[in-house]
Amino acid sequence: MATLEFGATSYQDPAEITKVLADEGIIYERWGTRPESCSDDSKVLEAYAPEVARLKEQGRYVHADLVALSPNTPGLDDICEKFVKEHHHDDDEVRFVVEGAGVFEVMSQKGDAMFKISTEPGDLVVIPAKRRHLFYLTEKKAIRCIRLFKDSKGWEAIYSRP
Ligand SMILES: [Fe+2]
Repeated sequence: MATLEFGATSYQDPAEITKVLADEGIIYERWGTRPESCSDDSKVLEAYAPEVARLKEQGRYVHADLVALSPNTPGLDDICEKFVKEHHHDDDEVRFVVEGAGVFEVMSQKGDAMFKISTEPGDLVVIPAKRRHLFYLTEKKAIRCIRLFKDSKGWEAIYSRP
């Protein structure tokens, strides 16, 4: 379950996290874990099909896939290095954590502070397009996520400020 560190306050209750992040324009939902979801990619997408379909409709996303990082991923350090630098995207960053863990630090709407969302399996986070953020793995260096895109070709990190 996620933890949100916002200023001096730490939140662990999913309902509270959802509310605090909604006020910041970030979608957080607790979908929970499904035991059958830890096999192949198509089974994972099947296990979360209703939630993915709803989100696609709400956010006009057209494409869903799975991404996995682990200590066995070739070039893991280089990949992590890209996303630990503050950046934004022209598309939303939509991540549902199936396995593992990862930390997002997201710029507040006012642009005056970063808040930290530590995600675990069962957590969905949507960072809107153009919002500055960074991402890193935890000590285990492993995560497996469902991603959704409005345009599967246009998703890349942009480091310079808009
Ligand atoms: Fe990103």
